[in-house]
Formats: sequence, structure tokens, C-alpha cells
Amino acid sequence: MASLGPTLSSTISRLNLLAELSHNHNTIRIFRALSCSLKPQKSSYHRRLFKSSFSSANSSSSTSNCSKTLGSDLVFNDNLVVLGIETSCDDTAAAVVRSNGEILSQVVSSQADLLARYGGVAPKMAEEAHSQVIDQVVQDALDKANLTEADLSAVAVTIGPGLSLCLRVGVQKARRIAATYQLPIVGVHHMEAHALVARLCDRDLQFPFMALLISGGHNLLVLARDLGHYLQLGTTIDDAIGEAYDKSAKWLGLDLRRSGGPAIEELARQGDAQSVKFSVPMKQHKDCNFSYAGLKTQVKLAIESKNIDAGIPFSSASIEDQRLRADIAASFQRVAVLHLEERCERAIQWALEIEPSIKHLVVSGGVASNQYVRARLHEVVARNSLQLVCPPPSLCTDNGVMIAWTGIENFRLGRFDPPPPAIEPEDCQLDLRPRWPLGEEYGRGRSVARSMRTARIHPSLTSLTQASEYQSS
Ligand code: KG4
Ligand code: ZN
Repeated sequence: MASLGPTLSSTISRLNLLAELSHNHNTIRIFRALSCSLKPQKSSYHRRLFKSSFSSANSSSSTSNCSKTLGSDLVFNDNLVVLGIETSCDDTAAAVVRSNGEILSQVVSSQADLLARYGGVAPKMAEEAHSQVIDQVVQDALDKANLTEADLSAVAVTIGPGLSLCLRVGVQKARRIAATYQLPIVGVHHMEAHALVARLCDRDLQFPFMALLISGGHNLLVLARDLGHYLQLGTTIDDAIGEAYDKSAKWLGLDLRRSGGPAIEELARQGDAQSVKFSVPMKQHKDCNFSYAGLKTQVKLAIESKNIDAGIPFSSASIEDQRLRADIAASFQRVAVLHLEERCERAIQWALEIEPSIKHLVVSGGVASNQYVRARLHEVVARNSLQLVCPPPSLCTDNGVMIAWTGIENFRLGRFDPPPPAIEPEDCQLDLRPRWPLGEEYGRGRSVARSMRTARIHPSLTSLTQASEYQSS
């Protein structure tokens, strides 16, 4: 388990509201007192939150595409309305969600043009792009929900993992709103949000369940035991699958304005998936970890060997050249997804040994919006008598709904911070967690191939949850 010593504030306060205090005995007492006052049943925010603060007529503005009310065993009569803000990477997103699972609004401003121009995320430019649109995105989300900030119960915001510069933009915005309207604030783990949004979509989805989280920066196989409790069965030892899609698309000269994944998915439909013999990664490692760096290199070499010039956009290439590119896209996708299938198959066996009651595999994150990925993983779960839960594509790629929903789930358990002070110094140290593991590693899943790149910076969400539960018990 990760060391908990230096992170006392994190075990209690999700955002570093008392950042200026040092960890002396006095501080510990203050934190303990704060921790108690944060319990919903005792806090003044609780009283405010549990009165209905908006008229039910507002629900007519719902834009939900996943708006099933939760099953009776999960219904909470708390009537919360939470604003979720997401700026961890290249999308600026906000949404307003009600605690019965109703999505009141969802707004995403994508940096696709920047991505297409630079072929990847440039942190400084991404930060600037977030700063330019954050106010408008949040305002649009409130307008579409027919609400104002004063109607909100809480603000939820991604505090990690992600790019520090980008996370800061969202966290500062969330804190400004929370301070002005005296709202509690929930700091959200981006990958927990990708997993938990499935519980908004599927009324039968109870803990424990398995989750495969596949995005641009992460490739995680976890056993979700409870809120805040995740056992990591596998992760990537180098690149995530989304990164491999993005780079392959760039090298194939595809139009990146919708990001590389959808471009490869579309082109792969026209290609012969058996034509290029790429090898499946990590065959010799009988674990649940992933590697996509080698497959990326194989794609690059295949492109070079066929004399494809990525400088010539796909649309301007000859018919024969287009066919070669489609074959590479299809062959890449087949092997990239085969790697997912093999690891999932093994992870399901491991997970069922640990928790025989598991019934669902959640597949979420940007790459989970891919129809081929969904179809192949559907076969895997069916073979193992499980059910696949895939949120709709708009909730798989980064969005504010998943942040708002995870905020609601955490808020109910008292895992939130009080409103920030009205006036905060410019240089106020925020608790941003750019490298923040979700779960504790499962012993059998530890990879000998793991590089130093995966060294931890922040204790995992799971170890923090365990520590705060221990302290309050
Ligand atoms: O979860 P996400 O929106 O952002 C991160 O947290 O990284 O995932 C973005 C990734 C990108 O690599 C993008 O190319 C990939 O998801 N992606 C897809 C598809 N849609 C998005 N990959 C394959 N097929 C898709 N249809
Ligand atoms: Zn994501």
C-alpha cells in the first residue's frame, strides 16, 4: 500500500483547502474537526442541499441520452443538482446532473483543431484554450439546464490525473463558483468518473464490477469493489491504446479533426484486417498488463515499408495508396483490440476468483466509443457469462456528466470539501494530482516490465479512501 504519511490533508480534504497550513499537531486537530464537520448529516451544507432548490419544471430542459432513473435500490431522495467540470486534457466540458440520474445539460468544447494542427496535445496551448472557453462552457451548461449557480447543490471538478496546467483551469473555475455561491466542492478522479458514469446508465450495475478503462492516456483493468475502492488488475507499461490510435492516424495522414480514433475506425471498415501481420503485444507475459508502444512502431514500419507519404493527406492519395492505408488501419485495429480481448479474458478469471459475485464488465473511456471494440468485447463477456456495460459514446469520451455524477456519488458519502474562502491569494497552492493512480495493484498483476515512468507521485484514490474511513471509524 502507498505511504500515507505526507498526504494527511488529502485523506480528509479532496481539494487542498488548507494548503497554507503545515502538518503539525495543531493542523491534525483542525483536519480531524473538519473531517467530522464534513459528514452530510452534521454539516450546514447538508441542510442546504437536501432542501429542493429548484422547481421540477426545470427538468423539461433535459438533454439526457442516458437518463434512466436509477433502480429502486439505488434511488436517493436527496434531490441534488451538481455541476461537473472537466479540463484534464484537451476537452473543456461541463454538465449539470440531478441525483436521480437525469442529465440536465451537457456541453463539450473540443480542441480538435489544435490537435489536428500539432498532432498531439501541447500543454501550454491546451491550457490557453481551456482558459478561453471555460466561462462560456459552464454558462452554457447552466443555461441549457435552465438553472443558475444559486440552484446548485455542489460543484464537482476533476483534480487528476491529467495535465497540471489544464486541471488548474477547471479547478480554479470550480472554486470561484463554490466560493461565490457558498457551495461544497468535490474533487474527482478522472478514471473513477469514466467507470462510475456506467452506474448512471445502467440501473442494475452494483458493486463489485469489473472495468476496462481505455483512453488516450490510460489503459486500466480494475475490479471496482466499492466507491473509492479499486483493485488494479492491469495497466499499460508504456502507451495507452488511444495513443496508438492517435499516432497511427497521424502517420496515415488521416484527418485528425475528430481525433485519431474515429478516423482509424472509419478507415478500418474499408480495409483487410488480415493483410498486415502485426504481432499481438506481450503474448509471453501471462498477466493483465498492456503495451502499445511496440505496436505503434510496427505500424510506423509498415507505413514506411509501403512507401506511404503521411505528408499527402488521405483524401489526396491515389486509390492504391488509400487501399494500403485502409489495410494498415484495419490490421492495426484488429491486433490492438485482440490485445484488449486477451487481457480482459484473463482479468475476468482473476476477478471472479477474488469476487465470484461479479456480473458486469464496464468498458468506458474514449476508445470505448469504438463500435469494433464494443462488438469484440461483447463476445468476450458473453463467453464468460457476464454482461457488458458500455456508456453511450458521448459519455465514453471526456465529458462533464461523468464528473458531476461521480461528484454526486461521493457527496452522498460525505466526501466533499466546504466552500473555499471568498478571497484566495493568486498563488494559492491547489491540490492537483497529475499522476494519481486509481487503485492498489493486485499482486499477480504487478509487471516486471513496468518502467520507471509509472513511478507514483500521489497515493492512489483507494489508499486515500481507506485511510479516511479508518480515521473516521
Ligand atoms: O477518454 P478520452 O476522451 O480522453 C482521455 O482521457 O484521454 O479518450 C480520448 C482517446 C483518444 O485517444 C481518441 O483517439 C480515442 O479516445 N477515441 C477513439 C474513438 N473515439 C475516441 N479511439 C478509437 N475509436 C474511437 N471511435
Ligand atoms: Zn478520459
